[in-house]
Amino acid sequence: MRKQLVAGNWKMNGSRESVAALTEGLKSGAAELAGKVDVAVFPSSIFVQRVADTLSSGEIAWGVQNICTEEKGAFTGEISISMAKDFGCEMILVGHSERRSLYGETDAEVVTKVRHAGKAGLIPVLCVGETLEEREADKTMEVVARQVQVVLNEIQSEYLEKLVIAYEPVWAIGTGLTASPEQAQEVHAAIRQLLTEHDADMAARTRILYGGSVKGSNAAEIFTGADVDGGLVGGASLDVQDFLTICRAAS
Ligand code: G3P
Repeated sequence: MRKQLVAGNWKMNGSRESVAALTEGLKSGAAELAGKVDVAVFPSSIFVQRVADTLSSGEIAWGVQNICTEEKGAFTGEISISMAKDFGCEMILVGHSERRSLYGETDAEVVTKVRHAGKAGLIPVLCVGETLEEREADKTMEVVARQVQVVLNEIQSEYLEKLVIAYEPVWAIGTGLTASPEQAQEVHAAIRQLLTEHDADMAARTRILYGGSVKGSNAAEIFTGADVDGGLVGGASLDVQDFLTICRAAS
């Protein structure tokens, strides 16, 4: 049985004051969730130390939203996997649709970043999902399968031990539109089948999260999917009570 995971992607949001309040609120609320659901947050990198200082007791993990494809050197503005590990990050978001669409992140770069995370013993959270145009063209599974398969094909199994996949239909991100539980489960089941064809043991242990307008009001219904193992939450993760409600729905 896979333990559910709920992760908050704070994106480029927050101030020293708001991050302090949010993190303290999460710490207070996490105690009731201990052992029932895994919880993680992805702050903007500039706040990682602040989050680490508050969450060091361990109920909630943290990570960064992106890393460099290179491991060190003259890459101004970038953050390396070793830096993330140095600051206690357990997880790395890779291939978020905003990285792909706004910053041109390619499948090849996604593969390199997943490999870096796996080699460093961290948890890569591989984000996949189709645009509205691709869904309307009935290309959802073609797109998602490509995004998953390239990682399975290019990375040796030992670096995929901790892989987490997040299915985030692009048309549901930040729009208030949410995939129906049936739509989510359909794609999650197809991803599970891809994993099973690659390695049945890996398929059984790999958590597949749903992301795209998850709120406290819809989380429980979405999480009923047999292949939905939790959520990757954007906007609602900035509201401590709504995020804790989502975590309870997964527990
Ligand atoms: O990575 C999670 C994010 O893309 C989902 O955003 O605001 O639709 O929950 P949101």
